[in-house]
Amino acid sequence: MKKTGIMSAMVEELDILLKHLKNKKTQTIGQREYYCGELWGHNVVLVFSRWGKVAASSTTTTLITEFKVDEIIFSGVAGALDGDINIGDVIVAENLFQHDFDASPFLLRHVLPLIMKKEIATNSRIKHKLFDAGSDFFNKQFKEEISSEYLEEFDIDKPKILMGNIASGDQFIRDSKKRDEIRQSLDNVLAVEMEGAAVAQVCYEFEVPLGVIRTISDDANDEAIKDFPKFVYNVASQYSFFIIKNYLGHKH
Ligand code: ADE
Repeated sequence: MKKTGIMSAMVEELDILLKHLKNKKTQTIGQREYYCGELWGHNVVLVFSRWGKVAASSTTTTLITEFKVDEIIFSGVAGALDGDINIGDVIVAENLFQHDFDASPFLLRHVLPLIMKKEIATNSRIKHKLFDAGSDFFNKQFKEEISSEYLEEFDIDKPKILMGNIASGDQFIRDSKKRDEIRQSLDNVLAVEMEGAAVAQVCYEFEVPLGVIRTISDDANDEAIKDFPKFVYNVASQYSFFIIKNYLGHKH
């Protein structure tokens, strides 16, 4: 049976998934707990990625080399880079860029040495399956499962799911100048976070299929840290839980 590595950037989300994990076996490697078991009849390994590109790369490498996962799903939150994207929307990653990578003058800004391109694409099958899982969540579970108190508090009215490019870097972006600079320097990036492109690079090098899904938690401006923990705990971790459940439940 296929084994799916599920990396979460939110401890709260991991806690919810862990409550459903059957035949749990825990292994500690490099200060991380890897939880092996079954979720809704699928072999999985769950792990908290920790934050930032180095932490996420190291966790990805362990999932691939020690746990021999066949595919990886990364889920977490992100800041919006585009004015049409709101808190509570979901982005399924198409291409991932490292916005803070710059080996100029040897290479053009953002180009990764040896790989020789700026972006790394996610796996097409997983991307579409995640999109379907997210659409099902919004159509079937959202209203019942996410408390209206929080939807009102965070002004989430008609959330949408989009496929698009994501930028990663080792900074929590919370000023509009920096946000605009990232958006303008890369092709069509919708959101910014701190791990996805690093996971993508490791998966690319090991030829392991990857999917990345992010719930928008802020606008990457000076308001970014307002209520961030409350949103992650009460809204984003619930979103991710149901999307992963739908993903594992989907037939194709
Ligand atoms: N994750 C969620 N919001 C973010 C932001 N504004 N910058 C970087 N990573 C994030």
